[in-house]
Amino acid sequence: MKRMVIVGLALLVLALPLMAAHAFVGPEKCKMCHKVEYTSWQATKHAKAWSSLKPAEQSDAKCNGCHSTNLPTLTGVSCEACHGAGGDYWKMSVMKDQKLAIQNGLVLPTKEVCEKCHNKKSPTFKGFDYEKSKGLVHDVKK
Ligand code: HEC
Ligand code: HEC
Ligand code: HEC
Ligand code: HEC
Repeated sequence: MKRMVIVGLALLVLALPLMAAHAFVGPEKCKMCHKVEYTSWQATKHAKAWSSLKPAEQSDAKCNGCHSTNLPTLTGVSCEACHGAGGDYWKMSVMKDQKLAIQNGLVLPTKEVCEKCHNKKSPTFKGFDYEKSKGLVHDVKK
């Protein structure tokens, strides 16, 4: 009996992060209302990050994490890699209220968000200047 309680508790602890996780919706959903950001993002390397990997690298866990948003379906570095999974904030009723959107998973990116991928674990890493880089995220010409 005691053992079953322990197993039950352990399962609950394991399940908690899953229950709290927001679902990913993909960039096409965001495009409906954020056409300008969508178009500028598409012109960046983030949108093409998946095709930079060779087929064997795409199935290599040493490479694919930073070149994708939520595998297996959401490849490339898209909106939700920086702004958080949108399943609970993408509806207009939530989005129009910034505080509510943040409570439901919206992330206004900081340096730390970028450094999840822009770090020494990247084989091509040559340093990362946040102030210089953040303006390039939505406008490659800046
Ligand atoms: C139904 C329309 C709609 C959809 C779909 C939508 N948004 Fe929004 N979003 C808004 C509105 C309205 C605002 C608040 C006004 C504004 O800044 O344009 C907003 C604001 C934002 C902001 C700026 C927050 C701030 O205060 O600086 C970000 C970032 C954002 N949305 C990201 C996303 C992402 C990522 C997705 C897809 C997962 C998405 N939105 C989907 C309507 C939408
Ligand atoms: C999920 C991982 C991930 C996150 C988060 C991320 N990036 Fe990136 N970024 C990449 C990858 C991968 C590339 C290279 C894509 C390619 O060339 O195939 C890249 C490329 C770039 C480039 C182009 C570099 C060049 O050589 O031209 C800039 C600028 C950039 N990122 C800025 C940012 C900023 C600013 C943030 C945070 C707001 C950020 N990134 C968040 C993975 C990420
Ligand atoms: C690599 C990270 C990254 C990706 C990918 C990304 N964004 Fe952003 N986004 C940012 C950053 C950083 C800012 C704040 C820009 C600033 O402060 O100059 C921002 C700002 C915004 C804003 C606020 C208004 C504005 O233009 O500043 C909206 C809306 C937005 N993003 C929507 C999107 C949508 C929609 C996508 C996907 C099509 C997307 N973002 C992809 C990092 C990202
Ligand atoms: C820790 C995150 C991370 C990992 C792991 C990672 N990458 Fe990247 N990759 C990036 C980022 C960020 C960039 C943008 C340039 C930079 O800062 O390294 C990038 C850029 C690239 C580019 C474009 C190169 C260029 O000079 O424009 C290629 C190709 C690439 N990575 C291949 C790989 C391969 C192959 C692996 C696995 C062996 C891998 N990456 C693992 C984050 C990562």
